[in-house]
Amino acid sequence: MAKKFAVFASGNGSNLQAIIDAVKAGTIKADLALVFSDRAQAYALERARRAGIEVFHLDPKTFPDKSSFEKAIGKVLKEKGIDFLVLAGYMRLLGETLLNAYPDKILNIHPALLPLFKGMTAIKDAYESKVKTTGVTVHFVDEKTDNGPIILQESVAIGASDTLETLEVKIHGVEHTIYPRAIALFTEDKIKITGRKVEINA
Ligand code: GRF
Repeated sequence: MAKKFAVFASGNGSNLQAIIDAVKAGTIKADLALVFSDRAQAYALERARRAGIEVFHLDPKTFPDKSSFEKAIGKVLKEKGIDFLVLAGYMRLLGETLLNAYPDKILNIHPALLPLFKGMTAIKDAYESKVKTTGVTVHFVDEKTDNGPIILQESVAIGASDTLETLEVKIHGVEHTIYPRAIALFTEDKIKITGRKVEINA
């Protein structure tokens, strides 16, 4: 039976859209059963609704702490039979409740070549640092920000004529192909993780 997964997103959801399209095209052979957002106004929720995918939103401010917030999310994930999680612009650090519920089963995408340029302004930081190459990383999620074992990376050249805006467009373009590819590999059990070591058997 196809694995079921949920996407967590806080914002625009362009990566979510690429994932929705890949599921529809059959390149990701898994069931995108749920989209969760911590922000009611996230455009990602609108994209999911349009695609006929079930959505849910919880406001972390209405919970006393991270653990109770994540327990409420986890309850819904369990009810829906979700097998793995995909973070796509989800702007919160996961706590041990969700990490323990989905060990080595949570993926994230980051717009830089980790471990370089962690954090929320990675594209700008790379651009301003004048490196000639940056890129995109898909990795497993652990308890630290942008830190877990790396699954796939793809580099993006920063040319002399690039502006921050053109670089952003390039990075997002790469994200929209690399993330569906990584999710497809994961759903087909082609990714083996031992500690921090990740092997791909494509
Ligand atoms: C992407 O750049 C992703 O790498 C980062 O957050 C951004 C989300 O963009 N984690 P979108 O909401 O998918 O358009």
